Amino acid sequence: MSHLTEEVEEAKITVNEFVNGTKKLYIESYGCQMNFADSEVVASILRNNGYSTTSDVVEADLILLNTCAIRDNAEQRVRNRLSILNSNKRRNPGLKIGVLGCMAERLKTQFLEEEKMVDLVVGPDAYRDLPNLLQEVDEGHKAVNVFLSREETYADITPIRLDSNGVSAFISIMRGCNNMCSFCVVPFTRGRERSRDPHSVEKEARELFEQGYREVTLLGQNVDSYNWKTETESFNFAQLLETVALISPDLRVRFSTSHPKDITDDVLYTMKKYDNICNYIHLPAQSGSSRILQLMNRTYDREWYLGKIDRIREIIGEDCGISHDLIAGFCTETEEDHQDTLSLMDYVQFDYGYMFFYSERPGTPAAKKLKDDVSEEDKKRRLNEIIAKQQEHSLLRNQQAVGKIYKILIEGESKRSADDLCGRNDQNKMVVFPRKHYRKGQYVNVKVTSCSAATLKGEIVD
Ligand code: SAH
Ligand code: SF4
Ligand code: F3S
Repeated sequence: MSHLTEEVEEAKITVNEFVNGTKKLYIESYGCQMNFADSEVVASILRNNGYSTTSDVVEADLILLNTCAIRDNAEQRVRNRLSILNSNKRRNPGLKIGVLGCMAERLKTQFLEEEKMVDLVVGPDAYRDLPNLLQEVDEGHKAVNVFLSREETYADITPIRLDSNGVSAFISIMRGCNNMCSFCVVPFTRGRERSRDPHSVEKEARELFEQGYREVTLLGQNVDSYNWKTETESFNFAQLLETVALISPDLRVRFSTSHPKDITDDVLYTMKKYDNICNYIHLPAQSGSSRILQLMNRTYDREWYLGKIDRIREIIGEDCGISHDLIAGFCTETEEDHQDTLSLMDYVQFDYGYMFFYSERPGTPAAKKLKDDVSEEDKKRRLNEIIAKQQEHSLLRNQQAVGKIYKILIEGESKRSADDLCGRNDQNKMVVFPRKHYRKGQYVNVKVTSCSAATLKGEIVD
């Protein structure tokens, strides 16, 4: 795994804290934003069971790791972490350690056999059962619930916002995934796709706005296939987006992830219609080769993907931020396929991207039917070439922003200096600027004066 990707993943690990209750929960989250959102649901369920969170692992009565199974190294990191946490158990024999999330779902009871100090294994659809499972552990048993549901969306649970800047929050709008991308473990770890009641999404967004939040990101593995139906009502993603955008022009709306096969003109026109729906789309490509895309079972080809990019730029405009996910070295990938990926990048000039080399996941269609035959060396070299190209394009796209004025939602202090504030523009680019008398949660207009591949710098223009 490349340095860049490691950093990206590392940055996603957070330790969460809130105060309430008598027993102490320490929770760490790995993987995608949906897992982070789930940890907030877990904290809410456990608060009603007498737990408050702590960021100090030493004082914890319960340690939970909300895990990711997407690549082998994601799982490796959890195993390493568990062996470190084990020492806490020697010091505090009453301590309970639980594994939640996708790795729990993938390994099930095998986890208990492999990792002796784990007391509790809970899959993504079984968090309501946590109080009972903890009770079982208290009675001296190991506890497992990895049941996958067709209905569970946790719609009625108000998440406890962990590690929040008080300005932006995530809202899960659906769970699971019905696609069967051949490389991907998610359909096995998160089960069938189901959409959450739009009224509960709207209510959650409205409450966040009333509490002072100014940005919500609607989350799902494939938000464009959001589909809620009852006898009297039906909502697609474009309609949900519009409903949330109408809460207030001062509430920014983002969403992730879009699937190239599903993103519709309807969604693009809705984005265009509302200024507060941010002009930024994360549109994972996975590969630039139609042959590889077919083996991946992505159900679109290179031309379709590029057609979507053209459509985004036609409807929303040239300055819509676009990011990607790309996998280097998928089964049978040749040098020519790899060149197709690089040329796709040249065509699009993505603002940003998440880049990985292929990691075979047990049980997936690719693991069953295809040979993981690209050498580690080739995978890494190709990944590095993809990363180098992305660096060039990120810099280029950022340079195009220099001289322009953007509306920025202030997220807080810059990491480097307390004299500076930072926040994102519509296109999801981070901008750093001198604070003057402004505070987080406010909108300011900032003129961009310089940039690196990662950040824009600027000045507030009153
Ligand atoms: N639902 C999203 C992706 C979720 S997983 C979508 O369809 O785009 C996030 C990213 O991890 C994927 O886009 C893919 O690029 C990467 N990924 C998934 N499985 C992988 C594997 N087996 N090896 C390497 N990267 C993988
Ligand atoms: Fe995995 Fe594909 Fe579903 Fe994304 S759309 S979660 S890559 S199966
Ligand atoms: Fe990982 Fe599960 Fe998300 S495998 S990427 S935590 S859905």
